Amino acid sequence: MNASASASARAAGPRLVVFGCGYVGAATAAWAQARGATVTALTRNPATAAALRAAGIEVVVADLAGSDWHAAIPGGAEWVLNSVSSGGGGIDGYRRSYVEGTRSVVAWARSAGGIGTLVYTGSTSVYPQGDGAAVDETAPTDAAGERPGLLLAAEAAVRGAEAEAGCRRSFVLRLAGIYGPGRHHVLDQLRSGAGEIAGAGSHRLNLVHRDDIVGAIAACFLARPEQGGGIFNVADDAPAPKAEVVAWLAGRLGVPVPRFTGEPAGGRRAVTPDRIIVNRRAREVLGWVPRYPSYREGYAKLLSH
Ligand SMILES: NC(=O)c1ccc[n+]([C@@H]2O[C@H](COP(=O)([O-])OP(=O)(O)OC[C@H]3O[C@@H](n4cnc5c(N)ncnc54)[C@H](OP(=O)(O)O)[C@@H]3O)[C@@H](O)[C@H]2O)c1
Repeated sequence: MNASASASARAAGPRLVVFGCGYVGAATAAWAQARGATVTALTRNPATAAALRAAGIEVVVADLAGSDWHAAIPGGAEWVLNSVSSGGGGIDGYRRSYVEGTRSVVAWARSAGGIGTLVYTGSTSVYPQGDGAAVDETAPTDAAGERPGLLLAAEAAVRGAEAEAGCRRSFVLRLAGIYGPGRHHVLDQLRSGAGEIAGAGSHRLNLVHRDDIVGAIAACFLARPEQGGGIFNVADDAPAPKAEVVAWLAGRLGVPVPRFTGEPAGGRRAVTPDRIIVNRRAREVLGWVPRYPSYREGYAKLLSH
């Protein structure tokens, strides 16, 4: 795009700012660009920055938790997405990216004179439930847990932005396990001939396809003006036992079905709990409808490429 085309796109369409422009953030940026939006992204990573610039995105390279970037990004953006990850670094990375990073976004919004709709991609890992429980947004969260507690502090900062930072409305989307193009760990394990897989086969997997996450973010940005913000689970319609998912994939690939170790995956302290993340609120309030309602549709699409 040349300079004058870029200027007219800026004048015509909304402006999206993406903080932490990785797997979900970049896909959301592409969605917004397709609607004529101007996109600014903040990332720490110079290689990511180069790829984003090549895609026509304005990039600010900085750590979200600092404030040196505040002056570089004007306020007033209609759409703001915070989709940082912990960026590695264990518990300190959690605190820095999620809590300090989100508080920095709120401070920027306040000092920059306000923003429109703020969306934060949180996680269903704030919930402690297992034993097959159905978990909606009214379920208790694990505020005492070290990592869940930090995620909940980030959520609180996001929700507080309406009162404290001139944010018109703020949404927390608690995401289930993300999969999609280029991110399909179980499929990769089966393709590489893994004889065993971590976790408990009887525990249900709560998944959501990347494109359905973008759909949920878009539903927040495009919600009618009188729609307020809130907290929403974002998971597909049909959590299925991990053993069922793996057997289905193995059948599609024509490989033997691996056994489950019953042990946590490397780096995890516990196996993924067995529960059903309920997405009814996102469907009813946001009008969000997953394009991939179960693992079958999502993986069938991935296998077709
Ligand atoms: N993966 C899952 O299954 C899952 C499930 C539930 C929720 N979530 C949440 O969903 C969100 C989006 O996930 P994703 O898969 O899109 O993550 P991702 O691909 O790792 O992208 C996150 C981006 O945030 C950047 N980042 C991290 N810390 C930063 C900081 N302090 N300052 C600036 N940039 C920073 C990373 O950049 P660098 O390259 O510099 O590190 C990366 O580009 C995350 O909040 C994640 O926790 C994920």
